[in-house]
Amino acid sequence: MGIFVFDAYGTLFDVHAAMARFKTEAGPDADRMSEIWRTKQLEYTWTLTLAGHYADFWDLTDRALDYALARFPSVDKALKPKLMDAYYTLDAFPDARSALRTLKAKGHKTGTLSNGSSKMLKSAVDSAGLTADLDALLSVDVLKMFKARPEVYALVTDHFKCAPSDVTFVTSNRWDVMAGTSVGFRTYWINRAKMPDEYLDYPPVATLGDLDTLAASV
Ligand code: LAC
Repeated sequence: MGIFVFDAYGTLFDVHAAMARFKTEAGPDADRMSEIWRTKQLEYTWTLTLAGHYADFWDLTDRALDYALARFPSVDKALKPKLMDAYYTLDAFPDARSALRTLKAKGHKTGTLSNGSSKMLKSAVDSAGLTADLDALLSVDVLKMFKARPEVYALVTDHFKCAPSDVTFVTSNRWDVMAGTSVGFRTYWINRAKMPDEYLDYPPVATLGDLDTLAASV
């Protein structure tokens, strides 16, 4: 029996699925705007944590969307509430449910470790139909600091009452792999977009293209 913990936004949930629902209305800058929305959302988590501040991930998602809309004036600002609603019920990647079910069927424990606030995380998990497939929804909310602080990753070992080496941590964010590896987790990098490797001092156990491949191999 192993413990498999997944990053949520970007790994189980497609962060670009919100914009994808309104691509026609948003126009030709839709993809670039979605990228900036995500980039700013993450930047705010890092800079606020470095400066010793905290605002929850929902709030930062909102602020990042305001910035992205300001950067791309061609996109109708009236889309904002629709995009936030879509983010609240974000689509899971097509392989998220099957991979979690395969892991559960093999007798493993599963969970998420996310920057997402507890409320938005529960909403996304429920609306994607993943509630029964996840044993624990762990959010940084209780700590009021974001990844990549080591305290965040300790939420996993505290919850499952295990050693870091008992944890398999799965994430599509290479910087999240770096942090997981550095606390002693076995990490897998889900590199769907075939991005170049980085943080070479803190490598994953393996790099895979999707979640089903991971579930089949363990
Ligand atoms: C999360 C961020 C990385 O879910 O999107 O923790």
